[in-house]
Amino acid sequence: MAPHGDGSGAAEEAAAGGAEKRPVSTIVILIAMQTEALPFPKGVPWVRYHGTYKDLNINLIWPGKDPSSGVDSVGTISASLVTYAYASIQALQPDLIINAGTAGGFKAKGASISDVFLASEVAFHDRRIPIPVFDLYGVGLRPAFSTPNLVKELNLKVGKMSTGDSLDMSQQDEATIFANDATLKDMEGAAVAYVADILKVPAIFVKAVTDIVDGDKPTAEEFLQNLAAVTAALDQTVCQVVEFINGKCLSDL
Ligand code: ADE
Repeated sequence: MAPHGDGSGAAEEAAAGGAEKRPVSTIVILIAMQTEALPFPKGVPWVRYHGTYKDLNINLIWPGKDPSSGVDSVGTISASLVTYAYASIQALQPDLIINAGTAGGFKAKGASISDVFLASEVAFHDRRIPIPVFDLYGVGLRPAFSTPNLVKELNLKVGKMSTGDSLDMSQQDEATIFANDATLKDMEGAAVAYVADILKVPAIFVKAVTDIVDGDKPTAEEFLQNLAAVTAALDQTVCQVVEFINGKCLSDL
């Protein structure tokens, strides 16, 4: 069997433009909070749900519960680990990664509760390295895979997203989020983008707004209050995204 990254895999094909000319066949949907369960591989809390829908092989990946605290494994470390594990294994070799989840939104940038956005680009706001070039590495700005037809068809809002490992927002984070020109604030996107970029798999980010970061309600309270309803809106949009992708090439998206 050929080793990964030897130039023969789907990732290399995608990088070379080959995957853009045939219908999308396999997608990985990465979420951070629990919906369903089926452990894979052994020994880790990660969960993979998989099946086929029309012409698509769909893999829904969830990092599972943290073994020590028992809560959902949110944040960049789990997101990057599972993205790497599932996007790099020979068996899956996805044509597309969809990072689906919730985000805080900035009303000053046009976000409202329950809006579902497609992020145009993602960057980190909590990796401060004030040394030339390392500063850019820390921010880790990456564009999402461009999907103009998907945006138009589903009438999605589009905005930049900033990622960090905290739900709250320190003053330092706020300054970087502002510099990142972000409409959305999440805890996984830029980490998924980093891994997707390394593996040369196109990635898109579908995020539903649970709380208004520049509003007057405490973030955790507002997040928990809106989580169930907003997740329903997210689920509906992810289904529409899958439906739209079915039968299309990457270049049609
Ligand atoms: N997910 C939902 N709301 C969030 C916020 N305010 N910050 C980071 N991630 C979030």
